[in-house]
Amino acid sequence: MTTSPVYLLNGPNLTRLGSREPEIYGSQTLPDIAALVTREADALGLVVDFRQTDDESELVGWIHEAVDRGSDVVINPAAFTHYSYALRDACALVTTGGATLIEIHLSNPASREEFRHTSVISGVATGTIAGFGSSSYLLALRALTI
Ligand code: DQA
Repeated sequence: MTTSPVYLLNGPNLTRLGSREPEIYGSQTLPDIAALVTREADALGLVVDFRQTDDESELVGWIHEAVDRGSDVVINPAAFTHYSYALRDACALVTTGGATLIEIHLSNPASREEFRHTSVISGVATGTIAGFGSSSYLLALRALTI
């Protein structure tokens, strides 16, 4: 188990959870999910650094930070999933450096609109967990401890 913090990163529009398409994303807010993550991390003996940004460049910078610290990354890239080669290249630095990167989604993008069927992140991720609502976040933490 790693001792450096797990970077749990959230991409654009996820601050709108709770009111954003609740029939797809559920009624929990991002702070609600952060609280669940903290509780699960405590139970698993992990330290999690939970962050959100709408800014691609900030997200890339945070991934560089994780690489420099040798941290594992759990990331919900949100819409960047589908087109951000800059984010993909940053994520590749994590896994080629020997750390774990788990791509997560609340919904199951494969069962939604066509443009969501492409993930440019999956090919450089250690694995992907999608479709379990906020439990996708908790399952990713558990996967890190296996
Ligand atoms: C999402 C799925 C993406 O397609 C979408 O752009 C999001 C959220 C999810 O968690 O289900 O913003 O990543």
